[in-house]
Amino acid sequence: MKTLQMTVSPLDAASEKSLYEQVADRLHGLIQNGTLKPGDRLPSVRKLKQQLSISMSTVLEAYRLLEDRGVVSARPQSGYYVKSTALDLLDEPSKSSPPRQVCDVDSSLTFRVIRAINDPNMVQLGPAVQCMENFPLNTMNRLMGQVLRANPELVHSYGTVPGCEELRREVAKRMLNAGCSVSSDEIVVTTGTTESIYLALRAATQPGCTVIIESPTYYSALEVLDSIGLKALELPTDPRQGMCLDALETVLKSGQAKVCLLVSNYSNPLGSCMSDRKKKAIVELLNRYDAYLIEDDVYGDLGFSGDRPKAIKAFDTENRVLYCSSISKTLSPGLRVGWCLPGCYQPRVERLKVVTNNMTAVAPQLAVAAFFANGGYDRHVRQLRRTYHSRMERMRQAIQDYFPAETRVTRPQGGHVLWVEIPGKFDADELFEEAIRNQISIAPGSIFSASNTFHNCFRLNSGLAWSERVDQAMQTLGRLIKKQMARRILAED
Ligand SMILES: Cc1ncc(COP(=O)(O)O)c(C=O)c1O
Repeated sequence: MKTLQMTVSPLDAASEKSLYEQVADRLHGLIQNGTLKPGDRLPSVRKLKQQLSISMSTVLEAYRLLEDRGVVSARPQSGYYVKSTALDLLDEPSKSSPPRQVCDVDSSLTFRVIRAINDPNMVQLGPAVQCMENFPLNTMNRLMGQVLRANPELVHSYGTVPGCEELRREVAKRMLNAGCSVSSDEIVVTTGTTESIYLALRAATQPGCTVIIESPTYYSALEVLDSIGLKALELPTDPRQGMCLDALETVLKSGQAKVCLLVSNYSNPLGSCMSDRKKKAIVELLNRYDAYLIEDDVYGDLGFSGDRPKAIKAFDTENRVLYCSSISKTLSPGLRVGWCLPGCYQPRVERLKVVTNNMTAVAPQLAVAAFFANGGYDRHVRQLRRTYHSRMERMRQAIQDYFPAETRVTRPQGGHVLWVEIPGKFDADELFEEAIRNQISIAPGSIFSASNTFHNCFRLNSGLAWSERVDQAMQTLGRLIKKQMARRILAED
């Protein structure tokens, strides 16, 4: 067992990350690249304090963060040591290769599965939900109260489509962070991203049309396609870089489909995030082949490091991107406030909004506008990113500790879902049923596809706070997976 002497370059005072996170990230990097090996002792708190000219409490906070991520452990009177399981030993799933065929979408089974995985009595590893304590509920509730008191009649009146000007102005300001310079007139307020996607699809397609989607794809998007009578064409998708553009070009060129729907940043379920180069290239394809993109950017604010990634909309030169997002992943899923920037389909989206539900309730719109204006949104989201980062690391560590060594798992740089693949003839639908009997919900891979694939995959929600109960659930899942694998080997013999 050796003690490591570390030389570390100065920390970046201008970084969005706090000093202790930077220290933790550096040490984590040294563990991942093998400089610090399992069993190595981390530099003493005193030594690192001197080396980096930081306070003792910053070093301790960094070490605690690494403990939370599950990569080091403290030994009383001795210091912090790299855990034997700290190395990222698990492979990532490879790029998907769905059958190149147009599929009818039937989400009737999905509905049953989603009902089961949303049962709050389960350990909710299935739905992409977060703990309520992640949200600024007190501030939000206070703002709701203020809005109701200040507008006793307005909040009960019919509002107008495209929605409250106060909110649209704030959303337009926030869109600058995603690289989009838009006016409030280009924004239509909706009752969440799901409604934005629904309206965008209704506006840009006719029943019977084919829509190009990622593979795997977010299951509620499939439900929306099904409800409108649309068909799906799934394209190969990379767990890091998202949809394969060669395949997209081939389909657009063939004229099989003109509308594509995807999650550009920290996608669900793969966690992929497209590079700017790729985002620009998509827009070029849209322009070249007279096509349209429905961009779901609901996770865009939840990256673990660096600047917020740009939206594809930022590169849109001919108004062909219909951008959809909401506050569901950052402020409150229950207030149902979202928005759509429908580009050239704006008049049609506005008309469809009126006949769908007339308008989105006024009080939540005004409360969210007030939060964006002066509720400390940026500070809140910075904290949320840190929380999700350490929870995801912790869950990846548990997968490494408890699941079979062959397990493949994604390495997202944002969001809070992990996609797990068990190679071979594994049946995640069977695992789902067994997990439910053990009061654990997972999202089986089959619901993320219209082409009856991903039966050996499942999605895990890493947004929950780590607890004994979650740890036990992960151990149980690991046992169930190993048991099923053993049964299959026996059956093959
Ligand atoms: C990719 C994606 N889009 C949309 C949604 C739903 O968003 P909303 O609650 O705003 O309808 C989710 C929720 O999990 C999601 O993961």
